[in-house]
This record gives sequence, structure tokens and C-alpha cells, in this order.
Amino acid sequence: MSVKVIFGAVIGLMLMWMIPAVYAEQEFQISYTCAGCHQERYDEWSRSTHALAVNDPIFEAAYLRALESDPKYRSYCLTCHSPTTSITNDLNLTKSISVEGVTCSFCHTVTGVENNSYNFSQSNPMQGPYTDSMTGAHASAYSGLHTKSEFCAGCHDFSINGIPISQTYTEWKEGPYAAEGKQCQDCHMETKIGAAAKNGTIREKVYQHFWYGGHTGQFLENAVQINSSTQKTGNRVKVTLNITNNNVGHMIPSGLPSRKVVLDFNASDKQGREIYSGQKVYAKTIVDQYNNEVSDFWKAVSIAKDNRFKPGESRIEMFEFDAPNGTDEINIQASLNYQLEAEIITTETESVNVELARISNKIMLNETAAVQATPKGSPGIGWIGSLISIITAILVSRRRKSQR
Ligand code: HEC
Ligand code: HEC
Ligand code: HEC
Ligand code: HEC
Ligand code: HEC
Repeated sequence: MSVKVIFGAVIGLMLMWMIPAVYAEQEFQISYTCAGCHQERYDEWSRSTHALAVNDPIFEAAYLRALESDPKYRSYCLTCHSPTTSITNDLNLTKSISVEGVTCSFCHTVTGVENNSYNFSQSNPMQGPYTDSMTGAHASAYSGLHTKSEFCAGCHDFSINGIPISQTYTEWKEGPYAAEGKQCQDCHMETKIGAAAKNGTIREKVYQHFWYGGHTGQFLENAVQINSSTQKTGNRVKVTLNITNNNVGHMIPSGLPSRKVVLDFNASDKQGREIYSGQKVYAKTIVDQYNNEVSDFWKAVSIAKDNRFKPGESRIEMFEFDAPNGTDEINIQASLNYQLEAEIITTETESVNVELARISNKIMLNETAAVQATPKGSPGIGWIGSLISIITAILVSRRRKSQR
């Protein structure tokens, strides 16, 4: 073989390797290229779970378990967690754009959606909510789809083996908010007045890109409400709680079945000794082929139970017990907590526990009931804080490694 032929073959191979890479770069620009002009959107997005969709340690741990059970899940999981891979085919996540998860240039080149699959334009124009947007930086096109829940549905509603796993969109569609015309964007991308880009005109509404949800304490704060009333007959005490999903556009909890809402009820005497306690769990419970509850949703064969709160739904829960003789005062506590138990990078199990609502009443047994509700404390940011710090630590250590 001549040197020329070998040289030609090497160049050929290099070109074959380079062309798809260059092409892919043209397809999707990394988010940082938008930051210069869309700084606010960039800052918001980079703190959102969309930006962490493949770096989220909870996802990573689950992804590794899914790959262990069947390698076919590699491309499946990435269709939503790193959607650019369905074009770039970078299933080993070697490109920067792939580790950006649900990134700017993916969402803004979407031109259509059908079930769980999105259509794109090549790389331009940027699809967005404005009909009159003009810039020399890129072509712009109006997309009505981007202003509707259907845009989110392609990822936020899916079944596996025919079992509906996450149905946030369907729950919304069947509820009162769809009828009112209140879209996912209206709650999850709260608007403010401002410029959409550096030196852009001031617009009445720009959509923030935080996508707060179940990971965010402050967002859960007004999601549900509890009211209570008490009845006494001699020593018999009956507490009626009225729980309302008054601010969530879909069921609570929604999304993956590993999310639960737990009601803890407790009655104690003046000295703090427990008289009665009760608990109720609201969740969608999925089971595997052995009828065991599972959180690894790809193993689900059926739904055993679903008692979550529909949007707008009010439900009554009653707790009834006897106070021991001689008790003159009973303290009642009821709290509703949002819970997520998840394995983080296969070694550690982390629990989220955010308080959604709390009531606390004092009942005097010898007089007419004196019911005084005390306001709940603000839910902490503990969970999201610790998750973000874990992720940041991992990212920093990876970046250091790759810089070496
Ligand atoms: C050199 C500056 C610049 C860069 C870089 C840039 N944009 Fe823009 N972009 C603008 C300006 C200016 C507008 C017009 C704002 C307006 O209409 O109020 C705009 C508008 C948009 C719109 C709205 C389009 C519509 O019709 O609704 C989207 C979406 C958008 N940009 C996304 C992006 C994304 C994603 C990137 C990165 C891949 C990016 N832009 C990079 C300057 C830039
Ligand atoms: C999950 C999909 C998604 C991602 C990721 C995303 N956007 Fe958006 N973006 C939207 C939607 C949806 C709207 C329009 C909301 C509406 O009008 O109802 C929007 C609106 C915009 C607009 C129009 C003006 C405004 O501020 O509302 C700009 C500019 C923009 N995005 C830029 C970006 C940039 C830059 C990034 C990355 C840093 C990004 N987007 C990431 C979905 C996304
Ligand atoms: C390409 C797929 C995709 C699209 C499109 C998409 N999302 Fe997401 N979204 C995800 C994934 C994946 C996550 C979870 C990331 C993680 O934590 O691993 C997520 C997370 C979220 C969360 C945070 C949930 C939590 O528990 O904190 C909210 C809220 C959300 N998305 C709303 C939206 C809305 C509203 C839209 C439409 C404007 C949208 N998403 C479009 C894939 C998508
Ligand atoms: C009326 C306001 C409202 C609308 C409309 C709405 N959401 Fe939500 N969403 C919330 C609130 C409040 C929470 C926090 C409570 C919770 O975690 O369920 C939430 C939580 C979530 C979560 C986290 C899952 C969970 O339950 O922990 C996701 C994902 C989400 N929303 C996506 C969507 C999508 C997609 C749509 C449109 C199909 C949508 N939301 C429509 C208010 C809304
Ligand atoms: C059709 C889109 C889609 C596919 C396919 C998908 N996911 Fe997700 N995933 C989501 C969305 C949307 C969320 C965020 C909201 C929620 O909880 O439903 C999410 C959330 C998660 C979370 C919770 C992250 C957290 O921080 O709480 C884990 C874990 C997860 N996915 C693992 C996987 C694995 C493993 C696969 C493949 C077997 C997979 N997903 C396939 C859309 C998808």
C-alpha cells in the first residue's frame, strides 16, 4: 500500500468523523452562545432542573439502574433528558450540548410535537412567542405552540409498556385549568415586564425560565390548603380535616410515581404525651411483575392504586379517638408534606420533605372547643439547596478533571 493511499484513507476517516461533528454543532448551539444577549434567561435556565436533566444525581442513579436492566433504555431515557441526542446520536454524552440536558437551542428550534416526539427546524430560525421579533443575530419565527401546554406534553406525559407513568399534561387537560385556558407556561414560567434581549424593546411580558416545581419550597407553599373542625361527645373527639388542592394545575403529586404527599396527624395532651396519631399517604403506586411496589418505573406492570388530589379537588379526612379520663386539654397537629425518596448516585438515599401546609389547634375538653389555627412555618429550601450543592460539587470536580 502506498503512503498516498494510507494518507488518503486517514484524511477520509478524519472527514467522516469531522463532518457529523461540525453538522451537529450547526444544529444546536450551546446555551452559552445565547447568554451575551439573553443573560436573564440564561441565568434562570442554568439554575433550573431542565439544565440539570442529565447531571441530576437522582436521574444518573436511576439511568444506571435502567441500563443495567436493559441497554435499550439508553436512547429511550435520553429522548427527554438530553433531547438533542435524538439528532446528534451522541448517546455516550461526549458533547457539551448533550450534557446541557433540556437546552435553549433544543426548545427554540422545535416546530411540532406528536406524542413523545418533537420535530425541529435545522438550526434557525429561533421559534418563540413574538410575531414582531427582529434581530441580526438569528432569524426569528412566531410559534403559537410555544405558548401552549402541548409544547410541554411531549416530555411531560408518557407511558412505558402501556402503563401511564407520568401524565401531568393529561391531568391538566382533564382539569379546570385547561378549560380556563391557563397553560403550563402561565404557572411555571411566571412573566414580568422587561426586555427579551440586550438592547431589546421593553415588553409587557417576558417569560422567566426557572420552571419551579416539586423541588422548590417556595413554589409548594401555596399549593394546598387545610381547614379543620372538631366535635366532642364526652371523651370522644372527632377531627375533620378538609384538604384542598387549590393552586396546582394537575394532580398533586404529579410526575413520576416516586413522589408522595403524606398527611401526618397527631393528638397529644398538655404534657406532650401522645394520645393518638395517624397517617395517610397520597400517591400513584406502581407494582412490578411480583406485585411489589417499585419506584423504578420501567419495571411497572400495573398501577395498584392512585389516590392523589385532582386539580381543584377538596377531600375530607376524619380522625376519631378517645381522650384518656382526666385530660382537659388536647393539642392537635396536622401537617401535609411533599416527599420524594430517591437514590443518589447509587450509594445514598436522600429524602425530600417539604411542608405543604400545617394546622395546629388546642381543644379544651371541659369547655366549648377553642379552635385556633396557627399559620404554618415557611417551607425551607433545604432539599433543593442540598441537591444543588451536591450537583455543583460534582460538576466542579468533573470540570477540573476535564481541564487536566
Ligand atoms: C447577538 C445577540 C443575540 C444572540 C447571541 C441570541 N439572540 Fe435571541 N434574540 C436577540 C434579540 C435582539 C431578539 C429580539 C427581542 C425582541 O423581539 O424583543 C431575540 C429574540 C429571540 C427569541 C424570540 C423569537 C420570537 O420570535 O419570539 C428567541 C426564542 C431567541 N432569541 C432565542 C435565542 C437563543 C436560543 C439563542 C442562542 C442559541 C439566541 N437567541 C442568541 C438577540 C440575540
Ligand atoms: C423547556 C424548553 C425551553 C428551554 C430549555 C428554553 N426556553 Fe426559552 N422559552 C420557552 C417557551 C415555552 C417560551 C415562551 C413562553 C410563552 O410565551 O408562553 C420561551 C421564551 C423565550 C424567549 C422570548 C422572550 C422571553 O424572555 O419570554 C427567549 C428570548 C428565550 N426563551 C430564550 C431562551 C434561552 C436563551 C434559553 C437558554 C438559556 C431558553 N430560552 C431555554 C421554552 C424554553
Ligand atoms: C425535552 C423534554 C422536555 C420539555 C420539552 C419540557 N420539559 Fe420540563 N422537564 C423535563 C425533564 C427531563 C425534567 C426533569 C429533570 C430532572 O430533574 O432530572 C423536567 C422538569 C420540569 C419541572 C421541574 C419539576 C420538579 O420536580 O421540580 C417543571 C416544573 C417542568 N419541567 C415544566 C415544564 C414546562 C412548563 C414545559 C413546557 C414549557 C416543559 N417542562 C418542557 C423535560 C422536558
Ligand atoms: C395553576 C397553576 C399550574 C398549572 C397550569 C400547571 N402547574 Fe405544574 N405545578 C404547579 C404547582 C403549584 C406545583 C407544585 C406542587 C406539586 O409539586 O405538585 C406544580 C408542580 C409541577 C411539577 C413537579 C411534579 C410534582 O408534582 O412534584 C411538574 C413536572 C409540573 N408541575 C409540570 C407542569 C406541566 C407540564 C403543566 C402543563 C401541562 C403544568 N405543570 C401546569 C402549578 C401549575
Ligand atoms: C417522555 C419523556 C421522558 C422519558 C422517556 C424519561 N423521562 Fe425521566 N423525567 C421526565 C420528566 C418530564 C421528568 C420531571 C418531572 C417528573 O417527575 O415527571 C422526569 C424525571 C425523572 C426523574 C426524577 C428526577 C428528580 O430529580 O426528581 C428520574 C429519576 C428520571 N426521570 C429517570 C428516567 C429514566 C431512568 C428514564 C429511562 C428509563 C427516563 N427518566 C425516561 C421525562 C422523561
